[in-house]
Amino acid sequence: MYAQGQDSAVALQDVAESSHTQSQPTPAYNSESLDETTAGEDNDGALDFESDSALDSGSLLGDETDTLASSILHHRIENGRQYHAYRDGAYWGPNDELAKEILDFAHHMYLLTLDQKLHLAPIRDLQTVLDVGTGTGIWAIDMADQYPSATVTGTDLSPIQPEWVPPNCHFEIDDVSLEWTFPPSHFDFIHIRELFGCIPDWDFFLAQAYHHTKPGGWVEIVEHSVQPVADDGSMGPDHFYHTWGKVVIEMGEKFGKSFTVWAESAERMRKAGFVDVVEVPYKWAMNGWPKDGKEKEIGRWNQLRLMDGVEGFMLRLLTQVGGWSVARAQVHLAQMRRELKSTRTHAYLPGTVVYGRKPL
Ligand SMILES: C[S@@+](CC[C@H](N)C(=O)[O-])C[C@H]1O[C@@H](n2cnc3c(N)ncnc32)[C@H](O)[C@@H]1O
Repeated sequence: MYAQGQDSAVALQDVAESSHTQSQPTPAYNSESLDETTAGEDNDGALDFESDSALDSGSLLGDETDTLASSILHHRIENGRQYHAYRDGAYWGPNDELAKEILDFAHHMYLLTLDQKLHLAPIRDLQTVLDVGTGTGIWAIDMADQYPSATVTGTDLSPIQPEWVPPNCHFEIDDVSLEWTFPPSHFDFIHIRELFGCIPDWDFFLAQAYHHTKPGGWVEIVEHSVQPVADDGSMGPDHFYHTWGKVVIEMGEKFGKSFTVWAESAERMRKAGFVDVVEVPYKWAMNGWPKDGKEKEIGRWNQLRLMDGVEGFMLRLLTQVGGWSVARAQVHLAQMRRELKSTRTHAYLPGTVVYGRKPL
């Protein structure tokens, strides 16, 4: 919970100690600590906070965390987008308002995909839940609302979760690719969603998940492909979607964090020691081309998510990892947006929900 070294998590507030009730949401952070109106700008473009009020005497953070906590609250501005500062450069995506909106679109799409379920694993008697790489925290918050007697913890590199959350939900800033500092055999359920391109070593990562899951507890991985495919020949061999997919995969390889985990999750979970592993496939159409109501609705959301989201998904990877000029990257993104408008191509992104149990 407290920064003791580079692999330690930083708890921004331990709301489990709060006296608030379920009907009274609890601030996840000291509200002033994330107030960007106090931000100035460094020469290097990173935002600088004049007032780190989370670090005052009333803060739950000890003095020794000051440097780390202060740096967490900076952001890096790059090609007009805002990125996380803690573990600067570790993650490909921005953390600005647009990026948060895109994550919340995806959450809505997962609810549609899973018929409004937050998970498929058959969990029971839930007490402790971990959402690894929680993003905006939207899944963790929904989960805390659905299971009021459970404690839900979300971890992320970015402090982008809302201030007011259910009292049984809290967030920590942590690099989940390092050794976890939670107690062993602690969680009844660990949720991992869209950590593609984020994890350098999935074997090590899943070994952490295994170690910190209670015997009999469940881990669920929800991921999708970045390579559009079509089953009916409507996506010819020269279609731009092939180039798009190939470029993302190449960038991930160069970045040292693969984008192909969706196809590997089940095997990787079995290898990590999980049993009763179940894989449930799903498809996200690239736009509203499907006839079926649910698939069509998901496709329309996906089109919106991608139209607004491709810049955030790819700009840092293309320019910082691939060495492309911003102009070349923008042409690539514009081409993708153009293709996304065509319903003649019946393409989709395949994905998997994979869950497995730690043996008793
Ligand atoms: C594509 S988003 C998915 C967010 C969330 N799981 C969801 O499904 O809404 C990936 C998230 O992982 C976080 N992330 C990436 N690398 C991380 C790391 N090494 N440690 C902690 N969080 C990380 C990012 O900051 C981002 O919020």
